[in-house]
Amino acid sequence: MDLILFGPPGAGKGTQAQRLYKVYRTPQVSTGDILRQAVMEVTPLGLEAKPIMESGALVPDALVISIVEERLRQPDCRDGFVLDGFPRTVAQAQALDAMLASLGRHIDSVLSLEVPVEVLVERLTGRRSCPKDGRVYHVTQAPPAKPGVCDVCGTPLVQRPDDAEAVVRARQLTYRRDTEPLKAFYAQRGLLRPVDGTGTLDEVFQRIQAALGKS
Ligand code: AP5
Repeated sequence: MDLILFGPPGAGKGTQAQRLYKVYRTPQVSTGDILRQAVMEVTPLGLEAKPIMESGALVPDALVISIVEERLRQPDCRDGFVLDGFPRTVAQAQALDAMLASLGRHIDSVLSLEVPVEVLVERLTGRRSCPKDGRVYHVTQAPPAKPGVCDVCGTPLVQRPDDAEAVVRARQLTYRRDTEPLKAFYAQRGLLRPVDGTGTLDEVFQRIQAALGKS
């Protein structure tokens, strides 16, 4: 299963990719997570990406394309992957087609999580995550058992700098302008499967399984 989880910031791509991994063992390939790791480690990539990410804009295509190219060649992606946050531009989608073709593969399905913008803003401003293991929580919708600390490793949870409300709104605009046109790109290929991304985490996961013909 070579899958794209598509949708605006806050649609639940990361959350549902982690669920898919738990059930089907398909690795989550998140360009946002890889870039945040580079920022944390202060690598040259991280130094270039940091101010761009904090403004809500997109990191240049060439950088993210090479990240994904390297990641998809790793052994754990051999039997499938779930792309989260990539592609985000038509140029990235075309590069993805080319890299998969060189591996004799193709995208099986693009699941597009549909969520109204005000729900997205509420989800993102309430999101907290574990800086150690990357687990994602929400202050009211998916709270940790003990407020402010990760259920699994006990590390204090943090808020992403780009989850401040002004940046959240800028990210939504970037999505509408640069990324949403990809829906037509994948619809033309018969790959786009819209999924209602509202409701509980379980409800959304059930809809994803149904869209994949696995329920
Ligand atoms: P990235 O990390 O990819 O962020 P994003 O796409 O903006 O997506 P998010 O992680 O914010 O949202 P999500 O859909 O994963 O939602 P989540 O599951 O966490 O990218 C960050 C930045 O990196 C970009 O702005 C850009 O600068 C750069 N970048 C990354 N990829 C790039 C690329 N390909 N090209 C160029 N630049 C790139 O859920 C959000 C919250 O809602 C959580 O708190 C969760 O608990 C809660 N929640 C989820 N589902 C539900 C539900 N059903 N009900 C209630 N709450 C829910």
